[in-house]
Amino acid sequence: MRAWTLTSPDDHVRLSDVPTPALRGGGVLVEVLAAHVPAYTKMVVEGNRGGLPVPLTLGPSCIARVIDVAPDVFHVAPGDIVVDSALLDAGGGDAILVGWVGLGGSGAGSGRTRRMRDVWRDGVFAEQALCAKETMVRLPGAENHPDLARLSFLPWLCVAAKGLHAAGPIAGRDVAVVGATGQMGGAAVLLALAEGAATVTAAGRNREALDRLAELGPRVRTCQLTGDRATDAAGIGPVDVVLDTLGATPTADATMAAYDSLRVEGTLVLVGGVRQDLTIPYGDLMHRKLTLRGSWMSDDATVTSVWNLVRSGALDLSAIGLRTVGLDDPAAALDLAANTTGLNFVALVP
Ligand SMILES: NC(=O)c1ccc[n+]([C@@H]2O[C@H](COP(=O)([O-])OP(=O)(O)OC[C@H]3O[C@@H](n4cnc5c(N)ncnc54)[C@H](OP(=O)(O)O)[C@@H]3O)[C@@H](O)[C@H]2O)c1
Repeated sequence: MRAWTLTSPDDHVRLSDVPTPALRGGGVLVEVLAAHVPAYTKMVVEGNRGGLPVPLTLGPSCIARVIDVAPDVFHVAPGDIVVDSALLDAGGGDAILVGWVGLGGSGAGSGRTRRMRDVWRDGVFAEQALCAKETMVRLPGAENHPDLARLSFLPWLCVAAKGLHAAGPIAGRDVAVVGATGQMGGAAVLLALAEGAATVTAAGRNREALDRLAELGPRVRTCQLTGDRATDAAGIGPVDVVLDTLGATPTADATMAAYDSLRVEGTLVLVGGVRQDLTIPYGDLMHRKLTLRGSWMSDDATVTSVWNLVRSGALDLSAIGLRTVGLDDPAAALDLAANTTGLNFVALVP
């Protein structure tokens, strides 16, 4: 079968003919129907987001149809439409993303995560994939969904949902998303609207992307980030909840503007890719009774609740622009993904 592979840390992604994976214990063999190619995939491949366990087939998550299951797999069956979350979690902070960068806990990894990556290494940018059963969640009724490629955005919606839920129920609260012009941010805006936020302030730099978010409805406010912490805080808030979905920023100013924008008893949740330290004033956090949370990936219950929002029509994915690519030209696909953001994403349909 055909797959996007990497053989060494300084390799480019290449289209390769590889053996079709053979079923083994704890495994689910799937036909990959569509896989989101994250906007920062090229950065991941270039080694800017931590080490990939090479050699491997790349690709963190997908929508797939189950072909076969190992005898010890009971929660999914041949013919089911599933989402592969990539998350394999052994508990105690030892978690890996199969086919991708990113380790749970401190991020440093352990003997256990190394063993997990030895056994479950290959991802889903391929015609078929053998997935660990723990990464699979069934999507009941998805067999009849008219646009399965669009559903490959589900894992991003689930990460955003888990982050928002870390702040408690969203209904009736004023929510802001900092980095709303990115794909995770766009997902968070859609989620917060679907879950009944009173207002959703979309904050980001890109005016065009902000205008598109404003068209989602009258509950959306926009704030164009200037880079000045005080100005941005005044533009974002006051709000009850902020989800930070920023990519790698050169300073922590936008995140600290988000912190400043909180009302008393507000919550800031970090899910983005910022690699900066935050200077949090002890007395301010205490007197304003703020909560600062981190959130990483998602879980099965969140996947099911987000799928039910989509399935019921409460979360309308038609606002998202979908660009599909095939396996033929990985370099062009990664370039397209890097230039496709806002409420748009690239799906690989192998
Ligand atoms: N916690 C988790 O479980 C989890 C899971 C998946 C991904 N992530 C992280 O989420 C982050 C965002 O992912 P994504 O898919 O949304 O990526 P993306 O589409 O590339 O979006 C990046 C966002 O960051 C903003 N940004 C980048 N540099 C900036 C700067 N210097 N100042 C202000 N804003 C800046 C971008 O704004 P412009 O539009 O103005 O460029 C955009 O809104 C990634 O870095 C990833 O590491 C976390």
